[in-house]
Amino acid sequence: MSDSSSKTLSESILQQQIAYYSARANEYDEWFYRLNRYNRGEELNQRWFKEVEIVKQALLQIGQPEKILELACGTGIWTQELLKIGNRITAIDASAEVIAINRSKLNSPHIEYQQVDLFTWEPDAEYDLVFFSFWLSHIPPELLISFLTKVYQSVRFGGRLLMIDSRFEPTSTANNHILNDDGSIYKNRKLNDGQEFQIVKIFYQPDELQNHLSQVGFIADVKVTEHYFIYAHARKVNN
Ligand SMILES: C[S@@+](CC[C@H](N)C(=O)[O-])C[C@H]1O[C@@H](n2cnc3c(N)ncnc32)[C@H](O)[C@@H]1O
Repeated sequence: MSDSSSKTLSESILQQQIAYYSARANEYDEWFYRLNRYNRGEELNQRWFKEVEIVKQALLQIGQPEKILELACGTGIWTQELLKIGNRITAIDASAEVIAINRSKLNSPHIEYQQVDLFTWEPDAEYDLVFFSFWLSHIPPELLISFLTKVYQSVRFGGRLLMIDSRFEPTSTANNHILNDDGSIYKNRKLNDGQEFQIVKIFYQPDELQNHLSQVGFIADVKVTEHYFIYAHARKVNN
């Protein structure tokens, strides 16, 4: 495939990702709360929530950052946790539908929403904490370092980044999504009504993620839970 055709594929998938999350906005939370197609039975659901609690505690232990930036904020599952520790949250997402749900769920004067495409986003402020969950895995590899560089620019010296994402674990997704280890970064996703979309989904190993974060300047500590999550706590320090 030539450079120009792969660029077109990547661009079209990035647009599909926004369309997918917009169309999925009303059913998105079923994934996190293990409902309907995401209900994997009592034992696996309990395992999921136990691991969610571990990453939640990692966030809650971060202290009380005054200014927080949440990228790809989604429907508010993690924005509501950020509200417990922070005073001023800027929450960015490309999807108007997703932002509308976040806003109506949380109804908070402490959150300012911005509808922005993170692939054209230019940072214009510094924050005590930058947070994103289940977003890094949707960034095509050729755009990763430029995105992480912008994240680094958005953290003040002495500030932190916390990010959470998925480990490769077939039971984390819907029971009608096939998650095989075929090496492809493109995955097929279905809505409840059967509509299908292609998205980027990359599962990082801790050492890869650590290297990427170090490359842009962070001092990072990357951890995994037993099955489902990878998370990184990174600091921006003066040399
Ligand atoms: C997997 S969801 C994660 C949402 C939320 N962080 C959470 O953990 O529940 C990915 C989010 O990225 C948003 N998104 C997709 N493409 C985007 C883009 N180019 N710029 C900004 N947000 C985007 C989607 O609208 C969706 O809310």
